[in-house]
Amino acid sequence: MAGNIKIIRSIKKMQAVSQQMSRKGTIGLVPTMGFLHEGHLSLIRQAKKQSDKVIFTIFVNPTQFAPNEDLSKYPRDEKGDIAKIKAAGGDIVFIPKRENIYPDGFETYVNCEKITQTLEGKSRPTHFRGVTPIVAKLFNIIRPDIAVFGQKDYQQVMVLKKMVVDLDYPIKMIIGSTVREKDGLAMSSRNKYFDASQRKEAICLFQALKTAKQLIKSDSITETVKLRASMKKTIKKICPTAKIDYIAFSDFESLKTTNKVNKNTICSLAVKLHGVRLIDNMKMG
Ligand code: PAJ
Repeated sequence: MAGNIKIIRSIKKMQAVSQQMSRKGTIGLVPTMGFLHEGHLSLIRQAKKQSDKVIFTIFVNPTQFAPNEDLSKYPRDEKGDIAKIKAAGGDIVFIPKRENIYPDGFETYVNCEKITQTLEGKSRPTHFRGVTPIVAKLFNIIRPDIAVFGQKDYQQVMVLKKMVVDLDYPIKMIIGSTVREKDGLAMSSRNKYFDASQRKEAICLFQALKTAKQLIKSDSITETVKLRASMKKTIKKICPTAKIDYIAFSDFESLKTTNKVNKNTICSLAVKLHGVRLIDNMKMG
């Protein structure tokens, strides 16, 4: 179970410690923005299976939030997070300071250009331009052998995988499956924004994905126009005030959109419920 856990806040210290660690064994990295739930913790377990030491990072990365998004109210619970990481078997928690990650004059961005144009990138045009540099910085500071990311943010993993290939990072990328609440809602730090009745309606994303999967399986429907229409109905029935941002069917490697579902299709959706934007996805094949 839980061993000793080390909290590191300085970049220099983190670099020194991970250099020392890598002489003795392999390092697994789990980057997060904190306010941890079982989904984040499942990634530690994945990392532990494939590396000798696990470094967990907590950093609410300002550059991936647009000015109108929830950066200032993004939930934080450093003490609770550290206890959870310890219990899940993390060895080191790296919690850098914002002014050290982005000192005055910071101006170098790593940008993945094409697969960032669809889905989340279309709705949040500056988002991935903030995600790739912070993950590149964490890779440079920690130099892990493996890094684990959740399928919950599927496009994010694909963007980061592309960055790893394009920039020759010697890092094995691992995808952890989406951890859900009992009723199917994908765990997210943002679920905390809902009151009890809103929380019940948040199930509509998962239910919509299930609707599509069921129609494909039992009625052999493959046209995405029909599937999307049924998904919209499911969402509106559960949450009449929901604002659907997108429901997209794409190839799970290239993320190119498709009009007909096949065994390589993933369905992703983003829905705003009571002012909170949620995303989810599911392989349809
Ligand atoms: P955050 O939203 O905190 O998520 C951290 C990691 O946990 C991501 O890899 C995400 O996909 C994964 N995750 C979130 N919910 C999950 C769930 N229900 N099941 C499984 N995994 C889940 O994603 C980010 O932070 C940031 O963009 C980051 C990569 C840290 C860069 O700032």
